[in-house]
Amino acid sequence: MRRQQQSVAVLVTLYVVVVVLALGGRIQQVESHKDQPLSGIAIHETTFHLNDKAHVKASPTLLGSNGQHSEFVLVEFTSPHPSDDDWIGVFSPADFNASTCPGDNKMVSLPRLCSAPIKFQYANFSNPRYSNTGTGSLNLQLINQRSDFSFALFSGGLLNPKLVAVSNKVAFENPNAPVYPRLALGKEWDTMTVTWTSGYGLKIAEPVVEWGVKGGERKLSPAGTLTFARNTMCGAPARTVGWRDPGYIHTAFLKELWPNAKYTYRVGHRLTNDAFVWSKEYQFKSTPFPGQNSLQQVVIFGDMGKAEVDGTNEYNDFQRASLNTTKQLIKDLKKTDAVFHIGDICYANGYLSQWDQFTAQIEPIASTVPYMIASGNHERDWPDSGSFYQGLDSGGECGVPAETMFYVPAQNRAKFWYSSDYGMFRFCVADTEHDWREGTEQYKFIEQCLASVDRKTQPWLIFLAHRVLGYSSTSFYAEEGSFGEPMGRDSLQKLWQKYKVDIAIYGHAHNYERTCPVYQSVCTSDEKTNYKGTFNGTIHIVAGGAGAGLAEFSDLQPNWSIVRDYDYGFLKLTAANYSNLLFEYKKSSDGTVHDSFKISRDYRDVLACAVDSCPATTLAS
Ligand SMILES: [Fe+2]
Repeated sequence: MRRQQQSVAVLVTLYVVVVVLALGGRIQQVESHKDQPLSGIAIHETTFHLNDKAHVKASPTLLGSNGQHSEFVLVEFTSPHPSDDDWIGVFSPADFNASTCPGDNKMVSLPRLCSAPIKFQYANFSNPRYSNTGTGSLNLQLINQRSDFSFALFSGGLLNPKLVAVSNKVAFENPNAPVYPRLALGKEWDTMTVTWTSGYGLKIAEPVVEWGVKGGERKLSPAGTLTFARNTMCGAPARTVGWRDPGYIHTAFLKELWPNAKYTYRVGHRLTNDAFVWSKEYQFKSTPFPGQNSLQQVVIFGDMGKAEVDGTNEYNDFQRASLNTTKQLIKDLKKTDAVFHIGDICYANGYLSQWDQFTAQIEPIASTVPYMIASGNHERDWPDSGSFYQGLDSGGECGVPAETMFYVPAQNRAKFWYSSDYGMFRFCVADTEHDWREGTEQYKFIEQCLASVDRKTQPWLIFLAHRVLGYSSTSFYAEEGSFGEPMGRDSLQKLWQKYKVDIAIYGHAHNYERTCPVYQSVCTSDEKTNYKGTFNGTIHIVAGGAGAGLAEFSDLQPNWSIVRDYDYGFLKLTAANYSNLLFEYKKSSDGTVHDSFKISRDYRDVLACAVDSCPATTLAS
């Protein structure tokens, strides 16, 4: 009897723990991942109601037979009990019926659904009469992501999913194929790095890049291979329903490049039988020598995210505009030398399949010009994981996918700060998700980066960071009373001033804002568009409107805020020579220039003293 009582007590306790965990998990999901459409599906709650009279059929079954890595599939379905909240989930791998979920409580009845779909759409999307007729179809785009696919019909809406029918399988001819190459600047100016994704592990193939000056001799360079496992994720959903095998991420270093030269390359794998599997051919222009005087054009933005061209995953329309930004960047690619995406990259938020979708979306850009990233809250933040902020914004990723999927020339990719030279530009890229305050390792790096550039030949000194360490009148910052990240400019403004940083650029606030040249919250110049002569203060820019849902400005517009735009857009910096820099803010909707200014400054102007920027002098002469 006593034992029975004990076991009842244990069961009750377990039940309470399970309920609390489940509720906690759900609250956490809703709170931290509301930006991620897949988090709107309570996939863990799925129950099985397979019905012989319901059918889902997908065609064609074989994709990519001409080497494509993206194709449309027609999904046709019928249901005997149709309803307007029925939906189709796309699963990959196709066999998603796991009998146990890793880390699950064994007391929950089986079978279960342990993996979120990679995309979803409502069944009535193309046929508004679906709830009467019970028939519908969808045209869905699939990308090659190392595994096969199946399509499942659910009733019960997103929150109470009931699995009704599952389709045949669909697969790419070579699911392992090398895909989505992305270039990045290396640690040395004459190195370009190329990173790509494949299903080829080191045991079955050797990753290589075949490359050379356009029209010249070509050579093979080896690549390194990285991957990461579920247990490197810090929490849910990345460690639970959002986990998906990331495949293998390969990076090669193409070294001793000629400055400003055209190169062609393809990425691939040498199989154990010595046969090669290749990607298509790509090309890029190598970096100018640091300080080289040539036309240099750099695009900068934050918070782009991704969206699906077939309209899936759009229950909140959060990142629809990212497709416009991507389109404008591709259109202007011939006049772009490098791209900086300064944090909040794809908002996968723990749904790892989305990193593949993002690298596919930006492939035309990233395979042609270096695509440099910075770390944002949606890549890095997780409680007790060493991030400066304790939020849940990374959905349990705690930086691992971002640090693996994209190369950055940092000493330690887990600490995402680095310096990058592009001709007449020096970029000092900070990592706002790690402490930057005076006395920290990062503060030392920032000072070293700003101090070590020779402004004679690299006059354009740009500070980049995800969160607004400088100035923003976005309402969420205004409400805090700080008009920027608390402790941001308190810690860093003396460095920006001392080292005469021309422009500091941020994301995080999803809008566009430009300050006057400013120091200690006071405008140091009345000029608005044509800055000439001596430096007197850094111009701060928020460029967080590349795609994710916009953020409102405060009603109060401080004196230092001279241009604000509640819209989607991105920046372009054009260095014509050592003395002239053009800044443009362009609209994502049509690529038109909405705001711009020029800086004209000679070397003697950079050397001239500004407030708090001169070294101590001696009275001796
Ligand atoms: Fe952010």
